[in-house]
Amino acid sequence: MAQLWGGRFSGETDALMRQFQDSISFDVRLWQADIDGSMAYARALARAGVLTEEESDVIQDGLDAVRAEFAQQQFQLKPGDEDIHSAVERRLKELIGEVAGKLHTGRSRNDQVATDTRLWLKRNIATLRQHLTGLQAAIIATAQEHLNVIMPGYTHLQQAQPVRFSHWLLSYGWQFQRDKERLDDLTRRVDVLPLGSAAMAGNPFPIDRPALARDLGFAAVSSNSMDAVADRDYLLEFLSWAAIVQVHLSRLAEDLIIYSSREFGFVELDDAYSTGSSIMPQKKNPDSLELIRGKTGRVIGAMTGLFATLKGQPSTYNKDSQEDKEPLFDTVDTLNMTLPIAAGVIRTLKVNPSRIYDKMDSTMLATELADYLAQKGMPFRQAHHLVGQIVQQSIALDQPLNSFPLAAYQKFSPLFERDVHTWLTFNRAADRRNGIGGTGEGSVLEQIDLLREQAGLDDDPDDNQD
Ligand code: ARG
Repeated sequence: MAQLWGGRFSGETDALMRQFQDSISFDVRLWQADIDGSMAYARALARAGVLTEEESDVIQDGLDAVRAEFAQQQFQLKPGDEDIHSAVERRLKELIGEVAGKLHTGRSRNDQVATDTRLWLKRNIATLRQHLTGLQAAIIATAQEHLNVIMPGYTHLQQAQPVRFSHWLLSYGWQFQRDKERLDDLTRRVDVLPLGSAAMAGNPFPIDRPALARDLGFAAVSSNSMDAVADRDYLLEFLSWAAIVQVHLSRLAEDLIIYSSREFGFVELDDAYSTGSSIMPQKKNPDSLELIRGKTGRVIGAMTGLFATLKGQPSTYNKDSQEDKEPLFDTVDTLNMTLPIAAGVIRTLKVNPSRIYDKMDSTMLATELADYLAQKGMPFRQAHHLVGQIVQQSIALDQPLNSFPLAAYQKFSPLFERDVHTWLTFNRAADRRNGIGGTGEGSVLEQIDLLREQAGLDDDPDDNQD
């Protein structure tokens, strides 16, 4: 069988070794990027005078034919197609003959694979970004729908202070906003063309690399050929980014798993995102959310794995680097599911305000009580201590703070007056927090406007599809 590198060899590769080193089973996904890269490279060789215009045209027509075979799922793999690069070149030669052999002039699979992977990732980043925007749109729509539902805000998973449900949900919208910003930032480092670096020393033919970069839609050209064939930082960054996104999704999932349990009952998942049990007929399980949470481990694993793969490698290209693709593909596939599933869960979520209200403990108003005293002149530290004692007594007497008698309050301090009870409502507590970033109604409405704007969800529908 004809390997691209067969000339120097007289013995056959061991069968298991072939299987061991072949990457075609997974890198076949790069076919479009590989063909795009090769067509642009054929044009660059023609511009450099290495190929005649006719040769370049024959090669490009041949590559178009190979592309059609892939697109129609008619491409036949053959033994010896060790990776996508050799498969495409082998087929090109079958279609156009020996001139196909001129395509690889000055190029190596080392700069080729780096180029293909970057092209592939750039295209997938655009889709992932849209998924993030879709998730933000779902968050904003559901927040608006339940704008004024008040629920317990938790710290340490203990009821802390009343907040708007919308405020809680929007807190995730901002996490995904930062994820988009991080993605945009790392995209600048994906958007660099390695082609023209060859094996690692550079291309000896007069290739106009900036023109090649423009042709392939890259914003910049790599500046050091040895770095360019080795560089997988952009994948480490991307996988780290993906791990952060998944951690955000996982925490959202965990909140909702808790809130949808019978003990809480704050929300109910739509049937579309739940499944049942094969033995317990009553069960409705939040599998969508559990899988989002579970797949976070997988994505963190992909990131960790690639760090380990790169750690001990000497300079430039080593075959170890072929191990970059499966974690990348798996992570992109995972996020292409988790993000739209999360959006679907949020968009169809049922919220149960009265059930939430039933679970709200009046001790969450203790801070209001301290603020009440502070606003009447008592130093806050002193107020805090006093209210602690009031809470203790209210628990002992089983008398919630919002119905604790005025006379009893006045035993603690003469500052307490009739208006104390009007202070002690969950709504008022939430609405008093009306500065930037607070949970008051005005703040949350401003927050929604701001997130919409930053997420590109304003009026212009073109905003969110770059
Ligand atoms: N399949 C290889 C990879 O994915 C392509 C590069 C091979 N280069 C080499 N010198 N063997 O990394």
